[in-house]
Amino acid sequence: MDHRGQQWLAAIAAARDEQALAAVEAQLFGKKGEVLELVRAVAQLPKEERPAAGKAANQLKQQVEQALAARRTELQSRALERDLAAPLFDASEPGPRRRTGSLHPITIVQNELVDLFTSMGFSWQDGPEVESEHYNFDALNIPADHPARESQDTFWLTDGNLLRTHTSPVQVRTMRRFSQHFEPPLKVIVPGRCFRAETVDKSHEHTFYQMEGLVVDRGVSTANLIHTMKTCLRRVLARDDLKVRLRPGFFPFVEPGFELDVNCPFCSGNGCSVCKQSGWIEILPCGMVHPVVLQQGGIDPEQYTGFAFGMGLQRVVMLRYGIDDIRLFMGGDLRFLRQFPGVSR
Ligand code: PHE
Repeated sequence: MDHRGQQWLAAIAAARDEQALAAVEAQLFGKKGEVLELVRAVAQLPKEERPAAGKAANQLKQQVEQALAARRTELQSRALERDLAAPLFDASEPGPRRRTGSLHPITIVQNELVDLFTSMGFSWQDGPEVESEHYNFDALNIPADHPARESQDTFWLTDGNLLRTHTSPVQVRTMRRFSQHFEPPLKVIVPGRCFRAETVDKSHEHTFYQMEGLVVDRGVSTANLIHTMKTCLRRVLARDDLKVRLRPGFFPFVEPGFELDVNCPFCSGNGCSVCKQSGWIEILPCGMVHPVVLQQGGIDPEQYTGFAFGMGLQRVVMLRYGIDDIRLFMGGDLRFLRQFPGVSR
């Protein structure tokens, strides 16, 4: 091999990485590459010299090509070895994880309740948040001059409608639609957002969530109401031994009406700060559907009876997770919201 050939092989051997090798390759085999020039120059030689010179040039070209390929393989495997040996490289480490969102605690508990009630044959009904005075009050046996309107002061729209103060208006809406086509049994739940003109504090919000329940059938009694509520509360508060008690409560659309209490899940009824030493926590208003309301819904109160309840969802969530300030739910503070389990779908 001539001097030039040795220089080329030396340049290839001296390339320290793939980039340097690519530069050498361009110099030898590029547009004006030295190796290609050499091969082309053979054509300029006198005819009798061409075979021998051509053969030599081709051999040299092949040698250089082989040297290039060999050096490339060598550099590649060295680079890989270097990467693998680097202290920062840990092949077993998982890649960057994306933070998933999480469900709002009210949504978590609402979903559980919906699952539970649908498994007991209830169906889910929706109603409008902007409601008419008729459905929110009059159809529920609360005429304009009734004192019960005072405790449900709300936001009135200029067109005479209002932001609903409870999910109870969906009772009559549902019964009217239902009774046009079917006879009871009727079993529905109505989770939804409600509004009242409240001064906001630790335990009052102007915007809150309720879940209404309504069951109408022949011979429905208070015993059915108690059993359903016990089943539901034992499940959401995860306590099999939970007891309930009824006290009289007044709501114009039920008769009799009750306040339902559970024995305090924090002290099992022995008395603590959460239940103010009474051992009981007031959890939901309920009662037997008033005959006038059944009539409003197109259902004959001589044949059918029913029960209804209006669960305050925040209250249940607060008991379930030990949250002591209702303002946290609407506050949008991520430090609060991130404490609930992520979405696993
Ligand atoms: N709607 C009533 C309220 O928000 C609660 C209630 C519902 C009471 C159903 C009895 C029956 O205060």
